[in-house]
Amino acid sequence: MDLKIAVLPGDGIGPEISEQGVAVMTAVCEKFGHNVSYEYAICGADAIDKVGDPFPEETFKTCMEADAVLFSAVGDPKFDNDPTAKVRPEQGLLAMRKKLGLFANIRPVETFDCLIHKSPLKDELVRGADFICIRELTGGMYFGEKYQDNDKAYDTNAYTRHEVERILEVAYKYAAQRRKHLTVVDKANVLASSRLWRQVAKEIAAKYPEIETDYMFVDNAAMRMIQDPKFFDVMVTENTFGDILTDEGSCITGSMGLLPSASTGEHTPVFEPIHGSWPQAKGKNIANPLAQILSVAMLFEYFNLKEEGALIRKAVNASLDANVRTPEIQVEGSAHYGTKEVGAWIVDYVKNN
Ligand code: IPM
Ligand code: MN
Repeated sequence: MDLKIAVLPGDGIGPEISEQGVAVMTAVCEKFGHNVSYEYAICGADAIDKVGDPFPEETFKTCMEADAVLFSAVGDPKFDNDPTAKVRPEQGLLAMRKKLGLFANIRPVETFDCLIHKSPLKDELVRGADFICIRELTGGMYFGEKYQDNDKAYDTNAYTRHEVERILEVAYKYAAQRRKHLTVVDKANVLASSRLWRQVAKEIAAKYPEIETDYMFVDNAAMRMIQDPKFFDVMVTENTFGDILTDEGSCITGSMGLLPSASTGEHTPVFEPIHGSWPQAKGKNIANPLAQILSVAMLFEYFNLKEEGALIRKAVNASLDANVRTPEIQVEGSAHYGTKEVGAWIVDYVKNN
């Protein structure tokens, strides 16, 4: 297969983990005979510094012309600490989502047995937890009408039937391939937008009698996720709730640095780690490249290249078992491995297995 990949390394640790993602992707393509090419583009604070725009037109064009985008991270503290900044790196991410029509954000919450002890939850609660959060990504408060003056401000949580229908269809597709259990998360007891979600969900649920659908208020869902994470199989929710719940989800697994994600929709799909740009670690060769590498696995799986994805997952598990780990998950007394060394180990594994 021919694969044209747009690579957006971004800020902070982004370029370092990006390099490892690309190296693993190249090794897998060589092994399976795929013809891959890379087109690099700027975004985030890096692009603000260079051209004054966190998602320049040129980058958009590169993304549109590619088969997939391998994205790393954006964000820089110099903008976080300046409330008067006119442009922010995060706006680049939002612009990318909107312009590429990436309405479905797929965030798997998986546990790795050897990292369960890092979870803040009890072992028996979290071991075996495995669910996917499908977060709506181009609607709701993030993109609704906004207003701000010195005395008043608002964000509008607007959704159309079409937006709700298409994300629910994605969620049912995932549920059908998994344990056939979908939880629709909303706040229909208070919010009109949530009542539309629930109404549409009930209509669509009728089309999928083989899938068990339940409806849960978001406050309850946040609680259930820590009381009984194994309850969930596929969860679908609106943009803001999904943002909050997926941070919660990633931390209960004990391995935030290991979770990848996919964003899909109308144009080129984007694959990225769920963690941020960790500016304090920039250039130190300590960031965990596994979430980025697993994003490459999701990329292959998106194109139905299952064996390629499976090999990457096997390599990641093998690296963890061999204690080839970056400092935050290093086993006491074992050798030191940095971002580069973990990436290189996985490349070797791919070549030799
Ligand atoms: C995420 C991030 C973004 C979001 C930020 C960086 C704009 O937190 O991808 O979850 O809020 O969507
Ligand atoms: Mn978030």
